[in-house]
Amino acid sequence: MEANSSIFSEQIRDGLTTRWLGRTIHWYDTVESTNLLAIELAQQGEPEGTVVLADQQLSGRGRGSRSWHSPAGVGIYCSIVFRPKVAVGKAQLITLMAGVSIVKAIALQTGLSPRVKWPNDILINDKKVAGILLESRVSGEQIGYSVIGFGINVNNVSADLPKDIRVNASSLLIELKKPVDRSTLLIEIFSELEKLYHRFQREDFPVILEQWRQYSSTLGQRVRIWQKAKATEGIAVDLTEDGGLIVQLRGGKQIVIHAGDVEHLRIL
Ligand code: BTN
Repeated sequence: MEANSSIFSEQIRDGLTTRWLGRTIHWYDTVESTNLLAIELAQQGEPEGTVVLADQQLSGRGRGSRSWHSPAGVGIYCSIVFRPKVAVGKAQLITLMAGVSIVKAIALQTGLSPRVKWPNDILINDKKVAGILLESRVSGEQIGYSVIGFGINVNNVSADLPKDIRVNASSLLIELKKPVDRSTLLIEIFSELEKLYHRFQREDFPVILEQWRQYSSTLGQRVRIWQKAKATEGIAVDLTEDGGLIVQLRGGKQIVIHAGDVEHLRIL
């Protein structure tokens, strides 16, 4: 079990099983946001697989204009530089691929049954334990670089979660009722992600979609999708080949959602 933050980074280096992902890690005790740093590094030409890790973030960024609460010593705050050679339209699949990798790694290490909620949340027992933030730069029809950032509530006790999200959020420790080793979990995530990314680069997209479906908590659910202040309700029926969400409206018409916040509605 890790003892402090520098041991955390050493344990990751020692335990890595990947060929290229995570072979360069920029480690910090405290940063504003690992995504911001990874974007800077990507712009400076750092190679694919470069990782930025921090023990604490002061301005962790979430989707939309939300923040990601990132207290010291308990969570994983990680951003990775990718340079995918695929068309811009496939960018959403990168988020789904990261979600599948995180879910598989958590399941393997803890025996818990995490699920992916479209497009970027990881849930356990319907509570959010992790979120993914993809930030890409596009040049022409291609993706110049993509930074995948993920935050995982690992060893947070309830008091470490912000009050306003406590009912809908959780951590691995709360769900498992014992602490989880952050280094071992990250090593496993890097390994899953490297494997899936090779498939992504080979345009083996159906495999990624199929794995996502397998771990989905969204498909088959009644959902409300918020796009700005507009809400649409229906049943989430499937994914498109680009990772969009197909929603069936009340009259039977199907629409595709590419971005938005999804609420799972309880059927009473
Ligand atoms: C969300 O659910 O809204 C996405 C949260 C993403 C948070 C992570 S923590 C590491 C990386 N750096 C950031 O500033 N944000 C992402």
